Amino acid sequence: MSFYDEVGGAETFERLVHAFYQGVATDPALRALYPEEDLAPAERRLRMFLEQYFGGPHTYSEERGHPRLRMRHVHFPVTLDMRDRWMRHMLAAMETLDLPEANAEAMREYFMRAAHMLVNTDDATSATGGAPSTGGAPSSSPVTPGGRPTL
Ligand code: HEM
Repeated sequence: MSFYDEVGGAETFERLVHAFYQGVATDPALRALYPEEDLAPAERRLRMFLEQYFGGPHTYSEERGHPRLRMRHVHFPVTLDMRDRWMRHMLAAMETLDLPEANAEAMREYFMRAAHMLVNTDDATSATGGAPSTGGAPSSSPVTPGGRPTL
């Protein structure tokens, strides 16, 4: 049985991603990064991606091609602050599901690793209006200019 089936298949991912975007909608700083006025298409893309990643249908790649997530995020200034906001809404969304602890733990670990991998902009750069860096490595210094340790 795939991880996807273990956690309840399509219905679980639908609920998770829907709850997540409800959270995003209440977070003006994070919401501002989403280009579309309607969050429904973004919700669908994230849902399809996660279903595929966790062993469900491959609709995401059939429609969107290779995920290449880091590349798909270079247009959005993903700072440590935005990563934390994103994670907070995802963890809250996970709380609305009643997942077995081992599955919940595996999902949390994936989200933390992936969200951190997508950081592409220093908080300080973003605050002064800079564009996201398109360089290869995520923010490499162990401590940000604001003194907050990275993950
Ligand atoms: C586990 C971490 C994450 C995953 C798996 C993920 C996944 C995705 C996926 C699959 C898309 C749609 C890509 C496409 O097909 O065009 C997307 C879009 C997007 N992501 Fe993320 N993301 C993550 C973290 C973040 C974080 C930390 C931010 C913080 C700002 C973020 C901001 C966005 C924005 C603004 C979009 C554009 C919305 C859209 O039009 O689809 N993501 N993300």
